[in-house]
Amino acid sequence: MKPSVWPVSETFAAEIGDLDLSQPLSEADWQMVEEAFRTYAVLVFPDQRISQQQHVDLALRFGPIDGSMVVDMTDAKSRIRADIADVSNLDWNGEIYAEDDRLRLFGHANRLWHTDSSFKKVPAKASLLFIRKIPPVGGHTEFADMRAAWDALPQARQKEIDGLVAMHSIAYSRQKMGFEMTAEENEVLPPVPQTLVRRHADSGRTSIYVASHAGEIDGMSEADGKALLAELLAFGTQRQFVYSHRWRANDLVIWDNRCTLHRGTTFDDKRWRRDAQRATVMDVAPTCEQEGIDAAAE
Ligand SMILES: [Fe+2]
Repeated sequence: MKPSVWPVSETFAAEIGDLDLSQPLSEADWQMVEEAFRTYAVLVFPDQRISQQQHVDLALRFGPIDGSMVVDMTDAKSRIRADIADVSNLDWNGEIYAEDDRLRLFGHANRLWHTDSSFKKVPAKASLLFIRKIPPVGGHTEFADMRAAWDALPQARQKEIDGLVAMHSIAYSRQKMGFEMTAEENEVLPPVPQTLVRRHADSGRTSIYVASHAGEIDGMSEADGKALLAELLAFGTQRQFVYSHRWRANDLVIWDNRCTLHRGTTFDDKRWRRDAQRATVMDVAPTCEQEGIDAAAE
């Protein structure tokens, strides 16, 4: 049976039916997925039963996987392979994190609007999040369409911000949630420049590229930079640009980090298990390089 594409938002999210990702993808099916990824930016594949290997194999169709870790999660007892990020609220034994567990507190910043890995020189192109277990209430994911947000910006504002460069750091988003990275962690991940406006290679459309990881704008005072970043974040996440995904167990959701923002909504994470695992696909180059901007600033 041919897979079916069901739009679930006005512009940028679709559910894909009649496709079993535990089976080898035919070339025609893969082309359909690629085409849908180009047209939409958030794809929902319900009721999948995939192994970690199949999860990784599908991610590799989109590009190379970024398996580097932000905080040390290596452990001989890890229940998830190293090239899949554990974004659950569970420890190595599958038990719910203790209230003061550092990894639990680190994850709180996922409730802020962000795009994955914008704090790395080469940020994420796509994320493939597979949820095996969900809480009965809460724990949704909201997505914002930054191409639609760009289109809605007044032309004068578009002109003003095109070509600007923001500095992104994991420390910025964590500080907002009262979490301090260690000196060693900050040394590994210093602030990196990212263009504020991107041309989306697959669709030719333009999008705003901003996140809670962004802390300043190159060439602007700290106050002016923060004001602009806050304005764009608020503008781009207005309800008309947002799709809210209420997870079902065994949903796989793939999103395009180049032109969307996302955030997790709260749930009682000391009571319910939310077993979420993410394979992250790297973009092709630093964003400034893609835009032809010389961003030597660090
Ligand atoms: Fe994320």
